Amino acid sequence: MKIVTTAAEMQALSCRPEHRRVLVPTMGALHAGHVSLVRLARENAGAGGEVAVSIFVNPLQFEPGSDFSRYPRPETADEEVCRAEGVDLIFRPAPNEMYFDDRSTFVEETALSEQLCGRSRPGHFRGVCTVVTKLFHLLAPDAAVFGEKDFQQLAIVRRMVRDLDFPIDILAGPTVREADGLALSSRNQYLSAPERAQAPVIRTALLEAAASHEKSAEKVLVSVRKKIESASLAQIDYAEIVGADDLQPRLTIGPRSLLAVAVFFGRTRLIDNILLE
Ligand code: PAJ
Repeated sequence: MKIVTTAAEMQALSCRPEHRRVLVPTMGALHAGHVSLVRLARENAGAGGEVAVSIFVNPLQFEPGSDFSRYPRPETADEEVCRAEGVDLIFRPAPNEMYFDDRSTFVEETALSEQLCGRSRPGHFRGVCTVVTKLFHLLAPDAAVFGEKDFQQLAIVRRMVRDLDFPIDILAGPTVREADGLALSSRNQYLSAPERAQAPVIRTALLEAAASHEKSAEKVLVSVRKKIESASLAQIDYAEIVGADDLQPRLTIGPRSLLAVAVFFGRTRLIDNILLE
């Protein structure tokens, strides 16, 4: 396994990749959700292909006052996870490798980014699009894998790749969960024991909504909010039903309607989603 830490070396290595390269972009603190994406990447790359994992806690996508500095950075453990999974290449640049102090160019998707998490996290998706663009340029992958847990991020990356003609296939991996249904996230470790005990209510509420087969988005959302608010430590940031591709609100549930929620437990914001049809 090769570990590259400078942008220049990474770009030199990418000039003429001999094999199919599949990239899994991450911010590290790797868990079983990331591992599932690495396995998808391996399947897609084939035995002769190359699986690359980028590990970069991207300052541009953290809004001021958020958890950038306390975001976990377990370098050795992450390397071990990658080695055990047969990853061929880790790209783990220092922040000054990725951004100039006087940077003045950004990549911004302007429609899907306004919805859902975009409202409570201004600038977040601009940071994501900018770093993903840079990673695509630096590593020149043939395909890249993203998780459905961050459904909005996946939709925005797909849109960006379409709009800007990146010759890169975007692959999606299903959400990996704890036994009690809580979606794996590096942020789960911030939850106190009582918060952790209540957090699976999110998944329960989503599953109940999907099982109800109710067609009125309004009615479904009333039930979802009621269920989540039954957990005393939960504070709903949003609960919405949107089209899975355009992320625009839907009044009636039909094909590819997505129920997406963001819920605070204390200062920790958890997101999850489910396709209703
Ligand atoms: P990060 O939060 O580290 O997530 C990296 C990838 O893992 C994302 O595609 C995310 O959707 C996926 N993922 C996270 N939890 C998952 C789970 N429980 N099951 C399946 N996949 C899961 O998302 C980012 O980093 C950043 O925004 C990034 C794309 C790297 C740009 O900085």
